[in-house]
Order: sequence, then structure tokens, then C-alpha cells
Amino acid sequence: MATTIPTTLPPVASHYPDRPQFQGFMKPGRVEGEVQNLEVYGKIPDDIDGTFYRVMPDPQFPPFIQDDPWFNGDGNISAFRLKSGRASFKQRYVRTEKFTREREAQRALLGKYRNKYTDAVEFKVRTTANTNVVHFDGKLLALKEDAPPYAMDPDTLETLGLETFDGQLPSLTFTAHPKFDPATGEMICFGYEAKGDGTPDVCYYRVAADGKFLETVWLVAPVVAMIHDFAVTENWVVFPMIPQVCDLERLKQGGEHWQWSPETPFYVGVLPRMGAKASDVRWFRHPNCFPSHSANAYEDATGNIVFDFGLSEKNVFFWWPDAQGNSPRPETLHSQLTRLTVDPRSESLELTAANVSVLQMGNSEFYRVDDRFATKPYRHVYFDLMDPALGTDFGAIVPQLGGGYPLYNSLGHLDIETKHTEVYFPGRTHMVQEPVFIPRRGSTVEGDGYLLALVNNYATMSSELHLLDTKDFTKAQAVIMLPLRLRHGLHGNWVDAAEITK
Ligand SMILES: [Fe+2]
Repeated sequence: MATTIPTTLPPVASHYPDRPQFQGFMKPGRVEGEVQNLEVYGKIPDDIDGTFYRVMPDPQFPPFIQDDPWFNGDGNISAFRLKSGRASFKQRYVRTEKFTREREAQRALLGKYRNKYTDAVEFKVRTTANTNVVHFDGKLLALKEDAPPYAMDPDTLETLGLETFDGQLPSLTFTAHPKFDPATGEMICFGYEAKGDGTPDVCYYRVAADGKFLETVWLVAPVVAMIHDFAVTENWVVFPMIPQVCDLERLKQGGEHWQWSPETPFYVGVLPRMGAKASDVRWFRHPNCFPSHSANAYEDATGNIVFDFGLSEKNVFFWWPDAQGNSPRPETLHSQLTRLTVDPRSESLELTAANVSVLQMGNSEFYRVDDRFATKPYRHVYFDLMDPALGTDFGAIVPQLGGGYPLYNSLGHLDIETKHTEVYFPGRTHMVQEPVFIPRRGSTVEGDGYLLALVNNYATMSSELHLLDTKDFTKAQAVIMLPLRLRHGLHGNWVDAAEITK
């Protein structure tokens, strides 16, 4: 589409800003292409046959917002194909409207994170599609919670276009964290600010494995706040709200989309998964705190909802302070894997300390499970962990880290039943990104398989994939070397080869 460039545009530099989030390991890489036969140290088991897709924000042009957050960049999708003991790599940007028009104009046109009033041009859809990539109904969906997905070809990574599910999508927004029923393949989704910026509307919908919408329920949230991740059980859906609130007037004045609100409770919306009416939603309230990513959820024998997720007492998104400008220092943040138990039939909507227990004391994030046990009782959870005692050489790597986000130096595995945690430490100059679990071929035992994660090596300033066998968690079976540096990313998923060819 032709872009009309206004005669007066915000000036942009010909290089990235001299800010931590654009320097060192975080300098945008902007690579598209492929590398066959990556170097492998160790052995990739022969029974692994599939692709690890992940996405990173990777701005193709320097922004005109000087202190732009690191995750406001264009979605660049990496695909690691593992087969017959070999690994290959492919990477391609999502051709969003933003990406395409900026490439045509040869400069940044998008303004602040989720503030269209700061853009240099008017976009129909301004998403960067940079938060998650899932495989559904034969397509990859590149996701960010401010817009519909962009569909991509799983093999070529060619962008197919904005995905409206043949016009069935009722919402202007689509979560970056859809859930999948492991038995039926049903995709359970929602969008918040679903009628536009600053609206309290939440749209909940279920999509059958063949792409047919099964039901839609429109809800109204008690505040306009971020619902980044959520959780699903056999019969319930759980919406944890981060007390970062949006105000349309602030947006119109060129301010930030989000502001931390210490006086806002941590709301937990609970809705029947099937057959609900708008009035069925119940918004439980817990004292102010910060819920991060979900691990899993299920119903116990009494019918209570058991929801496991990361929880921090402080504002993890420290770059969006409160109205007075207060925010915690990033080194004081500590997010723990936490269990919230909610009786959906309870008369009281108040949640207290009695509803909450810490499952793992470490500073952790990016929780993953064996997805065959999603929405069901489960035992094993995997995550990124920061434990300074493991021996990371901070003195050597700090000048190279770049910044703007918390980092994790190891992978953890918690056996919820035994309460035992195993730790994999990738090296003294390394940090880990989000892992994915790969089931062992032919095994139906929960947690029997492999864990795969992208690892940043600050000594070589390049990226590596570390592959663990969950039967021998503390050492890598294979380290797969990339001849390039991949900036810190957000989320990804493993797709078995059999899924692609279905
Ligand atoms: Fe996320």
C-alpha cells in the first residue's frame, strides 16, 4: 500500500539510540535468511523431528522515540528445524503493515509503544507482531496483544496477511498467550481493550481446531488494565489483571499506554469456559501485586481452581512507573512461581494470603509445562531462573548485556510433588531465554522428553541452542551454535513435524 509521508516528520537518527536497550547484545540484528547444518557439540537425539519457532522484537529502523522500550521492535521470527540429528536455522520478519510501510518510507513511522497518537502516519493496524508465535490450523500465527494475529507459512516464513479467521474474529485484539486443549486442539483466546484503546471490554472466544469459532462472550473489566497472560482449566477460564492501567486522555496527550497503579488490586476474573453469559464473570480481588506468566491451571478434587503463575510484590514493568514516577530498581525485583487457589463458587470475592502459596522460592519467569498436560492436574514445570550463586561472571558480561529487562542465568525444573528443583547452568558468560518442552517420541509420561532453549553467550556475542534430556537435566545433550547473535526474544513454541504435515 502506498504511504503518504507527511511533510514534517519526527527526525530519526541513522543509528540506534545510545541506550542500553539498543546496545551490546541488545543491538538490533535485523538478519533475514537461513543457515543449514548448524554446528552441533554433543548429539541431537535421532527421535527429535520438529521445529522450534520463536520471535524477538528487532526494530528494522532506529526509532524516533529515544527511550523506546526494547520490545517495541518489529517481530522477527526464528525457526530452528531439528531432524535426523541435524539443525538448520531460518529467520524472517513478519510483514506487518508497520514493517512494510516503514520499509517503503526507509525510516521509522511508528511512535510510542501502544500509543497511536504519537505515530508519524496513520496505520490501520499498528502491531509489531513480536510477542509469541503459535501453530494453529496449518499456519503460524505471529501475535501481539494489541491486534489480530499475522498468519505465516510454517515452512517458508512468508507472511500470509492479517488473520481474521474468515471474518469470524469479533475483537480488535487477540492475546499473545492463547491456550490449547491437548485433547481437542481447541484454541481458547481473548482480547482486552477489545473495542479499542482504553476500552474496558474483554472479548472471550473459543476456536475449534479447524478454525471455526465456537462461542464468543463479551465482558466488561473492573478497570482498564493489562491482561497479558491467562489460564484455562477443564471448566473455567482465569484472567489475571496486571495493575498497569490505561487512560485514553493520557494517550491523547502523548503519554504512555501504561501506568502502575499501587491502589488497584490484583483482579482475577473467573468465567465458565463453556456456555457462559457476560454476567457470569466474577472478578476476585487480591491486594496489589504483579502477576507475570502462567504455568498451568486445573481443578482439584473439590472443584477449586488451582492456578500456578509468577508473582512479584513489585512492579516488574519498572519502566512504566506510577503517577508520581515511582518504580522499583530492577535488581530488587523477585518473581516467584506461586499457586493461587480459588473457589469459583465462593460468596466472597476477596482473596487473601490463605489463597496463595509459593511453589518455588527462586527468582523465576517464563514457565513452561509438558503441553499434553495443559489445563489438567500436572507435576512438572520448567522455567528461567536467576541465581547469582551459580557463578555467572557478571564482571565480564555486564558491559555487553544491553538492558531494559530482567535476565536469567539458568533453567529450572520443579517437581511439584517432591518439591525438588533441578538446575541447568549453561555457563559463566551465558543467559537463557524461554525454554520449550519436547515430548520424547512414543512416550506419554508427563515430562519425559527434552528441554530446548536459546542461550545468549556474551563471551562470543553469539547465540546457542542448549538441548537437555529431562532424565539428565543438569547437563546439555547438545549445544547447537549459531554463527550470529539473536537479540533477547519473548516467546516461542515447539511444533512436531507430524503437526505440520497434518
Ligand atoms: Fe508473554
